This record gives sequence, structure tokens and C-alpha cells, in this order.
Amino acid sequence: MTQSAPEKRLYIKTYGCQMNVYDSERMADVLRPLGYGVTNDPEGADLVVLNTCHIREKATEKVYSELGQIKLMKSRKAEAGGTMNVVVAGCVAQAEGAEIMRRQPAVDLVVGPQAYHQIPELIAKAHRATGERLSADFAPDEKFDALPADRQVTGVTAFLTVQEGCDKFCTFCVVPYTRGGEWSRPADAILAEARVLADKGVREVTLLGQNVNAYDGCEGGLAGLVRKLAKIDGVDRIRYTTSHPRDMDEALIAAHGELPELMPYLHLPVQAGSDKILKAMNRAHTAESYIRLIEKIRAARPDIAISGDLIVGFPGERDGDFEATMNLVREVGYAACFSFKYSRRPGTPASAMPGQVAEELKDERLQRLNALLGEQQQAFNESVVGRVAPVLIEKPGRHAGQIGGRSPWLQPVHIDGPESLIGRIVPVRIDAATRNSLSGSLVPETA
Ligand code: SAH
Ligand code: SF4
Ligand code: F3S
Repeated sequence: MTQSAPEKRLYIKTYGCQMNVYDSERMADVLRPLGYGVTNDPEGADLVVLNTCHIREKATEKVYSELGQIKLMKSRKAEAGGTMNVVVAGCVAQAEGAEIMRRQPAVDLVVGPQAYHQIPELIAKAHRATGERLSADFAPDEKFDALPADRQVTGVTAFLTVQEGCDKFCTFCVVPYTRGGEWSRPADAILAEARVLADKGVREVTLLGQNVNAYDGCEGGLAGLVRKLAKIDGVDRIRYTTSHPRDMDEALIAAHGELPELMPYLHLPVQAGSDKILKAMNRAHTAESYIRLIEKIRAARPDIAISGDLIVGFPGERDGDFEATMNLVREVGYAACFSFKYSRRPGTPASAMPGQVAEELKDERLQRLNALLGEQQQAFNESVVGRVAPVLIEKPGRHAGQIGGRSPWLQPVHIDGPESLIGRIVPVRIDAATRNSLSGSLVPETA
């Protein structure tokens, strides 16, 4: 009988967007055959991966402070005679790899978002990996081809990357520089991965892309892909994120009205409500065209929950521009919306624009905006109280005898019920709403 080697411990910390969440899972998948098992504690780990985000200054700074802690752990392990390899992956790695190496010598390897499939090879030769810097010229094909067909899944929902990169060059944003140009994954590979997920009990798939609705890897674009996915047995719910208003085509809007598998939730960032600011952002839409688009989508699927992203304090934003954002928000009525203070990113056009807004003014505006968004979220949640909605049961609840799931509109729902329902979509009467979640009770299923 051969004795298997003790499992090596892999710690992965993920920052940023859902695409990074997907990438982190896939990194664990490529490292598993090398004997790495995921741990929740970095202390004493054999391999530490920070999968980083460069979108705002704060996100980037968090990485450097975390690396300070990791460095101490690495020294402690070395004193005990062990080794800890430290890898920085993701968008900070792509954007400022050399800077990371300079600021934190404890880092062994820096690897961009399109090159992480090469980690095993470099780790296997760990002694040679010291100080290596791997970025990529943004050809995600190679990465996806190298990823194992199998995926470890832990729940009944999963992310699935279908598109990467961005050609839009909004003047505030680093993504086109860290993730490269728009690229769509071939439909066959996506369908194969979705089948693996469904076989493992996944009922809901969220398709990911920095500009997911720009997907053009099969006929009919994203709508065509969604229709193919909807046919897979077991894939009962489909979501996608993030979309750009410019790529929201008729076929996709129609799909929202026709496909029961396509969930009534759409994340469609607008960023601002002033046309002057939208132009300076290079968004290629106006406040008016965005609102018309929302009307069209609501005509196809009246109950759709609209979410978005907003930035306050973009250079040149005057009081009147900010009021235009508030007015747009009032007109749209968001179910949920993210809001950010503009963060100056080196190398982006907006960072060099005149009229940078004072931090206190950004704070003030953000507070007012968040108060409005909070009210809207509460109102949206209350609007479903009294309805019976199909809820996908995802996990045990916080208390014994409780289970938790999601409504079609992505709201978390707390229910009294047995854990045996996990993985099932059951009718739930929505009894009450708070700003962040719903509570409901099981409805006996009618045949
Ligand atoms: N591709 C997506 C998401 C990009 S990043 C999209 O276009 O919507 C997610 C959000 O971060 C953006 O929508 C934007 O609102 C915000 N963001 C990007 N760069 C930023 C910056 N420099 N400062 C503040 N917020 C920013
Ligand atoms: Fe960034 Fe704009 Fe591209 Fe979104 S569309 S990733 S905000 S450049
Ligand atoms: Fe951040 Fe990169 Fe995503 S910068 S938001 S992790 S694409």
C-alpha cells in the first residue's frame, strides 16, 4: 500500500469582483493535482495566493498591508524550518508587478489574470520561481485551454466566466489595462463546463464577464448562449454580470421576456446622471438613452430588478451634475445599487483631468446618494412582500431549523424549513422585508 503524501496547504485570499472569485476557484483546481488543499488560515500555509484588485486605491493598498502580515508568517515558518511560497495574482499583479517586487521582497511570484494556469509549473520549481514576474499579453485562450475540465463545487450556485476584458476605456477605469481587450470564450467550452456544474448539483449559474453582454462567442451573442445553457438539464436559473448599456441588444432584452430560466435581475451600471460627466467618462450613453433602455427592458420583463454602479466626485462634477445623478436614480428606482467615490487611478485619463473634487465633498455626496439608494432597496424588497416566489434553497440558515436561499430578484430569503430542501427551488410566501433581506414561509407545493 502506498502512503499518500500529506496534503500541502494552500491559502487564497480574493479581492475585487466576481471574476476574481471564479479565478481563485480555478487556481485551486489547477493546484489540487499537485497535492494542495485549501485552508482558511494563512499561518503556516505552504502556498499563499493573494488574488488582487486594482480598481480603486483602497483595494490596492489593502494588498500591500496584507502582504506585510504574510511576510511575518513567512519568516515564522522559515524559522521553524519550513517554506511558504507567496504569489500575488490578479489585477494589481498585472498593473504593478515590478512595484510589488520592489515593495515586498517576501513575494516569490507575480502572475497576471491570464497567466495563473502557469502557477503549478512555477511552484513545482519553487526555488527557481523566486522573483519571477509573469504577466500576459491578454490571450485568455491559453489559460482556459490549460484549466482542468473538472471543477470542485461546493454549493448549488456557481460562477462561470464566459467573457474577459474591456474595450470601452471609461476614462476612470483600470480594467482595460489589467484585463486586456474584449475576448469571448467559445460556447462549446462554456456548455461543457456548465454540464459539469449541473452534474455536481449546481442549479444556478452566473455568467461572468467584465462586459458580459458583449459576448460574441456564438451565434446570437449572449442571448444565444443563454438559450443554449437553458436547455441543459439541471441548469434552472441563469444570471449574468456585468453589462454595459451599449451592448444591451434587442435579442438579450427579448430573452428576458421569453426565458423562464433567465432570472429577472440585471446589473446595468450607469455611473452618473449628468451628460457632461458621462461624456467626460467616455461612457457612450446619455442619461436619457439609459432610461429609455431601462423602459424597454421593463416592457419585456416588468418585474425585473435593476441594479447598477454609480460614481460620485468624478473630476468636474458640480452640484448640478450630482443632482442629475440623484434625479436619474429617482427615475430608475434601483432594487440594489453600488456607489463609489471616484478614486484617482494612475495612468487613466481622468486622473489628469482638471476639477478634481475634494474628498469631503465626495463624502457628502456619497452619503446623500446612499440614503436614497437605501430607501429604494427597502422599497423594492417591500414590494415583494405578500407574493409567493420560487426560492432556490442554498444553505442552512443562521439558526437551527432555518434555511437560506435567493429569490428570483437575488434577495436573500430566510425561511424556517429542513436542510433537506437545499438544492431545490420551492415556493415561498414572502412575509417581511428589511433593507438587506426577506423572510418567508414554505408554501405546500401544489401539483
Ligand atoms: N465592467 C464593469 C465593472 C467595472 S469595475 C462595468 O463597466 O460596469 C466596477 C465598478 O467600479 C464600475 O462600474 C465603477 O462604478 C467602479 N469604478 C471603476 N473605476 C473606478 C474609479 N477609478 N473610482 C471609483 N469607482 C470606480
Ligand atoms: Fe471599466 Fe468602463 Fe470597461 Fe466597465 S466598461 S470595465 S467601467 S472601462
Ligand atoms: Fe478589480 Fe480586476 Fe475585477 S481591477 S474589479 S479584480 S477586473
